[in-house]
Amino acid sequence: MDKTYITSPIYYVNDIPHIGHAYTTILCDMLKKFYWILGHDVLLLTGTDEHGQKIEQSAKKHHQSPQDYTDKISEKFRQIWNEFKIDYDIFIRTTNEEHCKSVQKAFEIMYAKGDIYKGEYEGYYCISCETFFTQTQLNENNTCPDCGKPTDLMKEESYFFALSKYQERLLQWYEQCPDCILPQYRKNEVLRFVQEGLNDLSITRTSFEWGVPLLPNPQRNDSKSHVMYVWLDALLSYVSAIGYGQETESSKMAYWENATHMVGKDILRFHAVYWPAFLMSLELPLPKHIYAHGWWTKDGAKMSKSIGNVVNPKEVADVYGLETLRYFLAREMPFGQDGDFSQKSLIERINADLSNDMGNLMNRLIGMSEKYFTLRIDSHKVKTYFADEIKQIDTILESVKQKMQTMQPSRYLEELWKTFSLANSYITHYEPWKLIKQDEEKTMALLALLANILARSSFYLYPVMPESATKIAQALGFEISPQNYQKFITEGHLLESFTIQKIPPLFPKIQSPLLVENTTQDTQTTNHQEAKDETENIVNLIDIKDFAKIDIRIGTISECKAVEKSQKLYKLLVDIGADKPRQIVSGIAQYYTPEELLGKQICLIVNLKPAKLMGLISEGMILASKDENGLSLLSIDKPRINGSKIS
Ligand code: MSP
Repeated sequence: MDKTYITSPIYYVNDIPHIGHAYTTILCDMLKKFYWILGHDVLLLTGTDEHGQKIEQSAKKHHQSPQDYTDKISEKFRQIWNEFKIDYDIFIRTTNEEHCKSVQKAFEIMYAKGDIYKGEYEGYYCISCETFFTQTQLNENNTCPDCGKPTDLMKEESYFFALSKYQERLLQWYEQCPDCILPQYRKNEVLRFVQEGLNDLSITRTSFEWGVPLLPNPQRNDSKSHVMYVWLDALLSYVSAIGYGQETESSKMAYWENATHMVGKDILRFHAVYWPAFLMSLELPLPKHIYAHGWWTKDGAKMSKSIGNVVNPKEVADVYGLETLRYFLAREMPFGQDGDFSQKSLIERINADLSNDMGNLMNRLIGMSEKYFTLRIDSHKVKTYFADEIKQIDTILESVKQKMQTMQPSRYLEELWKTFSLANSYITHYEPWKLIKQDEEKTMALLALLANILARSSFYLYPVMPESATKIAQALGFEISPQNYQKFITEGHLLESFTIQKIPPLFPKIQSPLLVENTTQDTQTTNHQEAKDETENIVNLIDIKDFAKIDIRIGTISECKAVEKSQKLYKLLVDIGADKPRQIVSGIAQYYTPEELLGKQICLIVNLKPAKLMGLISEGMILASKDENGLSLLSIDKPRINGSKIS
């Protein structure tokens, strides 16, 4: 069986998981499932990158030891991947002892080979990107060319990796291996970078301690203690996780022969230049593929904690469903390019692609087979009547497969959806409701054709939407497995006679956004540090006149009902002393029961423009505060008359 190794980047633990992290990890899970179906033996790695100055500083800000801090955040990543049913085999943490030993060993091998030498580093360092720059690379005001944050001028003793020595071999590799970096335009960027000439790379630091220490070596006679540069440490996790450099070298190193790295465009240079050079020095095989994806923005803007527009993947998955999120992420953004995340496009995808094209096909098949044949399907005559149609579908499926092999998930789904559209068009064309009156045998063959199209397509649907594909397979009486892929796709067998198991509609349509955006209840401020960061970021000072524009009143909640199809929203009536109570739609259902709310006096902004949520008008906003312990409504310590002003 072909061994295949897929790696996600290992995530910095200075941040909680966001939609960008989810995107990368879901793509990896998708690739794993795709190759599993094709019959490969696949190993998937993810994990956390826990060393470096940035993490040391974050831990300090939290008044925690780096180890306690990294333990906590690393666990959040593990938790979300578990909740997202990511089928990872290894979760590596760079603070793991075995990993540290591997890094130390790799350093000694490269040192003994003469690829590492001692020198003095003088240059600019961006802690946020954990990257060194020369003055010429910086922006005008000496800020980082990648993230725009201030850099530090540093001068310290450092060990260097002789990267320049590998320039030619790297160029040869890019040339000999056309698809080692995809998309091609990203590869061209890498090529230009290397052609311009490579500087040797500083790979140790002496100005902080949170890193893998260099082993003492009498030959080196260091005046200070060095720790490894965080990128050397992190990249080596790809091999340390499968046993490299450890006493009992595990057999998993065999997977290294066929490794694929999934990375964001921002970290491509580390993977496509530094990493292969380290591997060449260590005399290890190079990765087979490095796939670089683009970035998600929110409503056209870069996501950032201080703007408060970071999309929380769990919130999206909780209301729209994990399968939908996976589909949207893979389909919406052509691989390599940037894409925008909005509920509007998510809903459009659900309604058009999932509900109309695919869901509808399944429903129509169930409906017609129940009406005409009591749910029985028999494929005997499919090839007699519909040989061309089957051929047409198989040609499309071949191209679907090729799209994933060249890492074009969006094109992959676009192609796959052609099979559903075709199947729907066969229904329109052959009009089974008329055909049944003239030719029962052909009608059965037509319905069996539809069932076989859905069955074949479900193998390719599985990597992206495993649960939906499994439901389709169960309804059609087979299992998604590499053996069945072989049988139905490779060998082209048709489904045997079976009775359809009825399933509920796969993707009901969605009418309006399910997530409340830009309200107090929906801020992404989910932990103490973020709240603190936001406090530190208060720069928009306002005049008292600005504050006076906001009309906040005391009100009593007189009615509270759950909003249909929403786990987060309540429809409330709030008495503010006027003739009529105000109707408020608020995202607090996860934090309070209706009983807890009834009769409660709360603070309400009453002059906010009315907004529509899930089709319901909301005439104000209840004030609340949210932190890692949940959400708490603002209240007053003595009862007040409803309608009293807050000033
Ligand atoms: N620790 C390094 C990776 C070391 S791998 C040996 C790192 N970590 S990270 O947490 O900052 O980023 C991890 C990944 O998330 C990167 O591939 C990055 O491109 C991706 N994303 C971060 N924000 C993103 C978006 N807004 N959109 C898509 N992906 C983004 O870098």
